[in-house]
Amino acid sequence: MTYAAITGWGKCMPPAVLDNAGLSTFIDTTDEWITSRTGIKERRISHVPMTLMSHVAAARALACAGLEAADVDLIVLGTVSADEFVPNTASGVQLLLGAHKAAAMDINTACTSFLYGLSTATAMIRTGVVRNAIVIGVEGITPYMDWTNRNVAVLFGDGAAAVVLQASEQATGVIAEKLGCYADARHTLRVRGMGTIYGNNNLQLGDTQWDFDGQEIFKRAVQGMSLASEEAMKRANVKVSDIGLVVPHQANLRIIEAVAKRCDVPMERVFLTVQKYGNMSSATVPVALVEALEEGRVQPNSIVLAPGFGAGLTWCAHVIRWGDRITPLGTTDLDLPPCDKTGVELVQDVIRRKGGTTKGFEVKLPAR
Ligand SMILES: CC(C)(COP(=O)(O)OP(=O)(O)OC[C@H]1O[C@@H](n2cnc3c(N)ncnc32)[C@H](O)[C@@H]1OP(=O)(O)O)[C@@H](O)C(=O)NCCC(=O)NCCS
Repeated sequence: MTYAAITGWGKCMPPAVLDNAGLSTFIDTTDEWITSRTGIKERRISHVPMTLMSHVAAARALACAGLEAADVDLIVLGTVSADEFVPNTASGVQLLLGAHKAAAMDINTACTSFLYGLSTATAMIRTGVVRNAIVIGVEGITPYMDWTNRNVAVLFGDGAAAVVLQASEQATGVIAEKLGCYADARHTLRVRGMGTIYGNNNLQLGDTQWDFDGQEIFKRAVQGMSLASEEAMKRANVKVSDIGLVVPHQANLRIIEAVAKRCDVPMERVFLTVQKYGNMSSATVPVALVEALEEGRVQPNSIVLAPGFGAGLTWCAHVIRWGDRITPLGTTDLDLPPCDKTGVELVQDVIRRKGGTTKGFEVKLPAR
């Protein structure tokens, strides 16, 4: 039987940091509120398009796997914040990598996009359609954020990470998953202004406003991630005690703690990045997975559980059996261009581009 082993991994974090104190210079919020409600202390703000972050993350994952770009058959890129809708972002990554043989597709299931992409690429390898794939989770939420809405603006951040999958006879990679969607709750998280139905009723295309029912999403997230975790573990025939590390989607520390409690997993076995990166949507799980490997938290031949949820409301959980190798075969010098702005300055640039004011709320911009 053919499996899809994870043989390479790499991340690309934009350097500009926006901490809670920086946010509270232009949003009516406090470090105390954000920390106690979400566990988030800071997040990153990208100074480059998503295609560049994806390229760096993918090149690092390829070097880690010791694989040439010319040998890649498929690039799957999960994002809700593409640089452009047409052409897709995956094709831009193909071009920059020089992976000229690769098919290239974007997937949007919101915050679960990387995990749904992992299922897609794994299935295509297991059925013999392709042999080598890159799966990317990338998000540059900053330009899409409604910076006048404190309910959501404090929760998100930018980032990217990628994994390389290769056909293998060893039973590693994703060994079971459960995917689902609570479509009856799709109205609880909606970004107005992105899509063809907008452009009237006072809302310009690209001028985003977020519908966001945090408490309902919170409940559904705990329900969906717990249910998916239990079902995926049953399908993989593993018990909670077999799980070496849980690498969850990270929207809110309290959601993660509630899922861990429901699934009876001690928090010592849960890998957290939410405090330093916030919710990076599709990039959250792969960035956390890469950092868990870098910090030696994933053991050879151990089992990783990765539950997620996102707008839609999509939800899922993946059971991943790791292989023998937890260290990179190689590295690359490729990096992002330097950034000469702070996180606050980058956000203010976005607000300026969007007009500076929205719906009667004047955004506080420093004089330039
Ligand atoms: C959004 C979330 C952090 C809110 O936490 P909460 O404990 O439900 O917050 P509460 O409803 O108790 O508090 C809301 C109050 O805080 C205020 N508030 C909201 N955002 C605030 C902010 N950034 N700073 C200060 N006050 C804020 C509200 O105005 C409200 O005040 P009011 O009670 O006077 O009306 C939480 O519901 C959550 O994380 N939900 C899931 C969101 C998510 O994961 N989204 C991404 C999906 S992938």
